[in-house]
Amino acid sequence: MNPYIAAAIAEMDKVNVSKLEHPGSWAMDPSSCRFLAGFVRALGAKRIIEFGSGFSTLMMAREIAPQEDNFLLSIDDSPHYSAMAKEAFETSGCQAKVQFRLAPLRPRFYGLRLLLSYSLPEGLLEALGPFDLALIDAPHQDYCRESALYDVFRAVTPGGYIVLDDANRGDLDKGYAGSWQAAYGDAMDPMLLEGIGNGLNVIEKLEDVEPRYPKKGALSASFKTLRNFSRILLNPERASAEE
Ligand SMILES: C[S@@+](CC[C@H](N)C(=O)[O-])C[C@H]1O[C@@H](n2cnc3c(N)ncnc32)[C@H](O)[C@@H]1O
Repeated sequence: MNPYIAAAIAEMDKVNVSKLEHPGSWAMDPSSCRFLAGFVRALGAKRIIEFGSGFSTLMMAREIAPQEDNFLLSIDDSPHYSAMAKEAFETSGCQAKVQFRLAPLRPRFYGLRLLLSYSLPEGLLEALGPFDLALIDAPHQDYCRESALYDVFRAVTPGGYIVLDDANRGDLDKGYAGSWQAAYGDAMDPMLLEGIGNGLNVIEKLEDVEPRYPKKGALSASFKTLRNFSRILLNPERASAEE
């Protein structure tokens, strides 16, 4: 087994997830949080990026806080939930350097695939990286999880990791894993941890390559994107996320 994953599994029982702090089903499952904290510890990660702010932000911030030059960039499309995550972090007293950033979800082409993607200034992630770890825990709906990996891959250091939460969902997240493998081939090494929480896909980035976005499924992915974008436009909570 990958030594960092083995170390994180050995460490996770020592990580406390307070029942008082854990906000419930929208947040990462407590055992996934424990693994994540253990994984940050095992990697000695200093620079982290996440898509989907919330309880995971606090769990990772606490782990990097003792490291010099630590930084966590936490991206969300919802002004409400981003503000809630920021408040929880600020009232925790954790001293890590965390930047909360709002980014609306907008359709964008990845090859022939029209996908919803966090709308961020061009080159921002590369400028703020390289990151040792990226967590993808974006909204549960089929919104922007596939594109998050395409957006962040270049900003993750070779030998760094990308973790996808809820990886056991056969119809959605396992589908993204197939598209990612098609796009990056041997430049990444995914390991599915089905027994932790709702499944975690822990992907090691091995090298920088240009993605070859798969044509397979592009039409249906694009139709879903248009449907989901219309839902977002009708949802005032998610439609207005401009900074
Ligand atoms: C799967 S949640 C996870 C967020 C974060 N990683 C965590 O562990 O708490 C993903 C998205 O759900 C939204 N969200 C957070 N709390 C929510 C709630 N109570 N109800 C509805 N959506 C929520 C946020 O916009 C967030 O990006």
